[in-house]
Amino acid sequence: MKNKLSRRNFLKTGIGIGAAAVLTGRKNMARGAEEKGKMRVVASGNGLRATEKGMELLRQGKDPLDAVIAGVNIVENDPNDRSVGYGGLPNEDGVVELDSSVMHGPTHNGGAVASLRNIKNPSKVAKIVMERTDHVLLVGRGALRFAKAHGFKEENLLTDRAREAWLRRKERLSDRDFWFPPKPEEADREFASFFDFHGTINCIAIDANGDLAGVTTTSGFFFKIPGRVGDSPIIGAGLYVDNDVGAAGSTGRGEANILNCGSFQVVNFMSRGSSPEEACLKTLERIANKSKLLPRLLNEEGLPRFGLSFYAINKKGEYGGATMWSGSRYAVHDGKENKRVPSAYLFKRKK
Ligand code: GLY
Repeated sequence: MKNKLSRRNFLKTGIGIGAAAVLTGRKNMARGAEEKGKMRVVASGNGLRATEKGMELLRQGKDPLDAVIAGVNIVENDPNDRSVGYGGLPNEDGVVELDSSVMHGPTHNGGAVASLRNIKNPSKVAKIVMERTDHVLLVGRGALRFAKAHGFKEENLLTDRAREAWLRRKERLSDRDFWFPPKPEEADREFASFFDFHGTINCIAIDANGDLAGVTTTSGFFFKIPGRVGDSPIIGAGLYVDNDVGAAGSTGRGEANILNCGSFQVVNFMSRGSSPEEACLKTLERIANKSKLLPRLLNEEGLPRFGLSFYAINKKGEYGGATMWSGSRYAVHDGKENKRVPSAYLFKRKK
């Protein structure tokens, strides 16, 4: 292994950094609301319009699941968000495949779809899986047939921008195939930034009754192997809601999250007394430590070379968010103001 640290040192390093981060998290804890019965909507950084919409619907007395789904639908329908729904970046065959899950606190029920093609709003389909079947997760062709049976129309989700990003990447892949490399004017910075791109939106909410719900929706990794499923549609990984405790969701590297049941862990830490922010940090710390067992996930310093973020709300309406590497923000509507706030972090990114 390159730049291998002994396992003992490695764990020491990780625990040291993790503990420091949890302390930092404690300092920031006061961000959550103290009053019970306050409505909150929290989302990943690309979700400012979702938190706005979600709060508007909560104020009208709508179910928190309907509120968060209506919020993320705005982003799913936006061709300029390349991580979700229409305009999402495609798999290695140039096909957009979407994953989503929903979870409803009051009924402790959930639904999900994975590898769904040609349907713009997988989150709406996930909700119908929850409401109209005795299953939790439908995938691929079965999910598409189910969506069409419920009146969803097939559409081409690949925008020209996403198609061009796919083409440029394909052209750069190898000097041992029949594709010429991109023309210099096409090899610009924007396309370069697509290369390791993945993104997602998570949105969670608590209503005035203290009921919780959440949704996560994504187009997954750019250029993924067709059929690859990330954490977003996996209840317990990309999303988890326990109406007695809180709600949590994630964005970022799905594989690391699936292997650690991240959102379930966040809710579990909250059930044992952690604030939402502390719970997110402790979960990231656990994932970082487990990742040390897989050298391909580590950078030169032996730290996780991937991004992963969690967002959480507890039953009291306190909220928080944390990310593996510093520098990101998440969206929150706290009932008074809709804003982006800095995420707590486990490791500080070097400038
Ligand atoms: N977190 C999104 C994915 O890994 O697909």
